[in-house]
Amino acid sequence: MKESIKTLFESIKIGRYTAKNRIFMAPMSRYRALEGDINPEITTTYYAQRATAGLIVAESTKINKGSGGINCPGIYNKEQVASWKKVTDAVHRKGGLIFLQLWHSGRASHSSILPEDCEVVAPSAIPSTEQVMTFDGMQTPTPPRALTTKEIQELRDDFEKANEYALQAGFDGVEIHAAGGFLIDSFLQESTNHRTDAYGGSLENRFRFLSEVLDDAINVWGADRVGIKLSPVSAYNNMGEGDVLTTFKYVISQLNTCNIAFLEINEEMPFSTLTEEKRAIINELQSLWDGVYIANGNYTAESGAARIEQEKASAISYGRFFIANPDLVERFRQDSLMNELDVQKFYGGDHKGYTDYPFLTENALINK
Ligand SMILES: Cc1cc2nc3c(=O)[nH]c(=O)nc-3n(C[C@H](O)[C@H](O)[C@H](O)COP(=O)(O)O)c2cc1C
Repeated sequence: MKESIKTLFESIKIGRYTAKNRIFMAPMSRYRALEGDINPEITTTYYAQRATAGLIVAESTKINKGSGGINCPGIYNKEQVASWKKVTDAVHRKGGLIFLQLWHSGRASHSSILPEDCEVVAPSAIPSTEQVMTFDGMQTPTPPRALTTKEIQELRDDFEKANEYALQAGFDGVEIHAAGGFLIDSFLQESTNHRTDAYGGSLENRFRFLSEVLDDAINVWGADRVGIKLSPVSAYNNMGEGDVLTTFKYVISQLNTCNIAFLEINEEMPFSTLTEEKRAIINELQSLWDGVYIANGNYTAESGAARIEQEKASAISYGRFFIANPDLVERFRQDSLMNELDVQKFYGGDHKGYTDYPFLTENALINK
């Protein structure tokens, strides 16, 4: 192993657990769920193959049937629990740790992919122009309807139940998806939240929904098994406008009082580079966070280890590297070649581009 990356292989305490290394797997939707939002058998294989990660955060998972996302798995009924239990059992048998990412799509959805009795909803009726996957290809999202205050309470209940189901499914914890412009993020940010009730307006009000969802999650799991993902400067789903620094400074100051297991921050989107201004925002937010900080976005082994060495991150979550390299940890250790990533197979389809990426063999070429 190269001396410069050895810090990635040190164990780290994540809430009540000890992760065996700091090479974590970021949550990634792969759109392979079956009818009923149930995982196919290959999903068990997919996650088990990646169990050498210090922590797996499993993909965005619907907290109710109205959360959009074509072929995304759910965690709102017993059948889904059973299909996830196979996954968690397989990961645990291989000595892995696995959290589930709890998700509602909010306005990043399309009416054609929702059940007939569900609508695209958001804090405010502000449409997004970022296309979403539908059964007829990529389409502009259906403009959302603003949630009533009563519906917000119902969504809170759905999140709470999803936590209970995730616990039954054998997960080690949950990550609340408050990133990416999906439902919770759109409550937090001023550009997507124009509400005038207790859930909009002031920083405190915009934070309220996340705060309530978090409280409920903590009641189910204990704070030391709950993490949160944020993406303060991402433009994905038309986000990142307005004074995000003030917004997320407040969010982090509040989260600092909760003793959660970790905060994962998507700092930079795939295939993009941060402006100096956005990098400064990320650096400032990172410096304000008191707990375990999982840095995410375009990291390599070298840049990830360097960030940990500088004490600016506790661990790194890798997304695309883990898609193409089930044995990423070993590849980093051996400084070996990476498999080529097949972007066309990110979403949907069968085992191809999902469970068929090769592992290193003894005969593998060693890079350099
Ligand atoms: C195919 C794909 C699916 C993704 N799905 C999710 C998701 O379900 N939840 C989420 O929070 N982020 C999702 N992301 C973002 C990743 O978690 C991560 O933030 C991003 O890929 C940057 O990390 P990387 O540069 O190491 O790939 C997805 C990314 C990819 C490439």
